[in-house]
Amino acid sequence: MRMSDRRRFLQALAALGVSQSLPVRAQQPRFVENPFKLGVASGYPRPDGMVLWTRLLANLDPVPIPVRWEVATDESMRRIVASGAGAALPEWAHSVHVEPRGLDADRWYWYRFIAGDAVSPVGRTRSAPEAGALSPRLRFAFASCQQYEQGWFTAYRHMAGDDLDLVAFVGDYIYEGSWGRDLVRSHGAPEVYSLGDYRARYALYKSDPDLQKAHQLFPWIFTWDDHEVDNDYANDVPEDGMPREHFLARRAAAYRAYYEHMPLPSGMRPNGPDMRIYTALQWGQLASFQIIDDRQYRAPQVCPSKKPGGSTVVDPEVCTAIGDRSRSMLGAEQETWLERALVESKSDWNILVQQTLMAQLDRKLGEGRQFWTDGWDGYPAARRRLLEFLGSRRIANPVVIGGDVHMHWVADLKPDFDDEKSPVVASEFCGTSITSQGASQKMVNALLPENPHMKYGRSDHRGYVRASIARAPRCWRASWSKAASRGRSGPDARAPIPSLAKADPAPRPIRA
Ligand SMILES: [Fe+2]
Repeated sequence: MRMSDRRRFLQALAALGVSQSLPVRAQQPRFVENPFKLGVASGYPRPDGMVLWTRLLANLDPVPIPVRWEVATDESMRRIVASGAGAALPEWAHSVHVEPRGLDADRWYWYRFIAGDAVSPVGRTRSAPEAGALSPRLRFAFASCQQYEQGWFTAYRHMAGDDLDLVAFVGDYIYEGSWGRDLVRSHGAPEVYSLGDYRARYALYKSDPDLQKAHQLFPWIFTWDDHEVDNDYANDVPEDGMPREHFLARRAAAYRAYYEHMPLPSGMRPNGPDMRIYTALQWGQLASFQIIDDRQYRAPQVCPSKKPGGSTVVDPEVCTAIGDRSRSMLGAEQETWLERALVESKSDWNILVQQTLMAQLDRKLGEGRQFWTDGWDGYPAARRRLLEFLGSRRIANPVVIGGDVHMHWVADLKPDFDDEKSPVVASEFCGTSITSQGASQKMVNALLPENPHMKYGRSDHRGYVRASIARAPRCWRASWSKAASRGRSGPDARAPIPSLAKADPAPRPIRA
């Protein structure tokens, strides 16, 4: 527990008439229902520790609740190697974020939480290899876009059977509103705006047993996209014209609920409407993840169809503002941070974890061009700046991963997509959605020949992407998991469905 939290916890106990000298056991609550119904999670593995998370949810009084945690080297929790006690505070929705330190590098651990007479499920997590360690491989999955109403989270059942070191979630963990056709289940509530609304929405999503299982088995890392707050929002500009101060209050509520429900380090704790989630994470000598946020600091979308914000599809000859070189996707501060992180990285591979398709995608068939303004296509100067940087500074093996568009894409990334001679400076793997509905495969097939740097496109799959990096022979492999997220009726329709993996593009040449 941080000192300030501890002081507040003791003050709160004193206010309740509880003596500070009482043993913690004396204050233990008795729950009338299981308080661990949202499961457990871990994230951000480092060589000496990681973040452990849970949230107590059991119709609780708004008082601090003592929670103990334990980390063991065995699944039966007999060999405890770290433990501690803290409090789940009501102002943080009784969430618990613990960051054990001093653990051994590059090994699996198991953990659990204990509150009163309740014990959480045992989670599995791991630490990262030491910086510079020559680990032979890294296997991870990345996923995005899990609209609860549009499908079952069957993909996570497949993921639970995978051999992974970690999971990267790249945005749209919740959806703030309802949309789509042929829904299989319901949010049971309209669009969310308040802190209470967002908390309830996260609790609903996290009640899904397949999602819980994937959190229980692997450490996760995260970036977000728009639907964690509001469709198509850009920095302080909402989609629907809400006054700025109201929107920032909404963003503060959304960010706070996000922190409360994810295994995020305490350094990411939000401050009002601001929350820094961009960071870097190293996996031995093999790889560095640069996790970036292209939502919080971006310039507003150009030529919005309904003022003041929101996305549209534009002809760049008509909407000339799209070419404005001053428009940033990451914001100046994050851009500087990212350039430094990339230059200082000594890893064999550099994985940019971000939220949307980076490659140019001309969406107009035949003559003329049309670009979607909410993705990197709406920020071509910022994209070019980043891609030129990757090339000119000879950053080792950059691979961009993303989501958002509910389609699988594999692309060559070039500073100038319209110039055949422009060099390929990075590879992109954009993953489809866990459930969210996408465009037709017919449309994707028609777009592929018009966008020759796009090497593969699938829109008829729901699922996630598995990626594997091997040290020798040095290569990156990715495979698509295909999961049926829709059934005829109810959860029984989620019966196991074979995962259809497709091996795919040849590994890119290595530049060390
Ligand atoms: Fe999405």
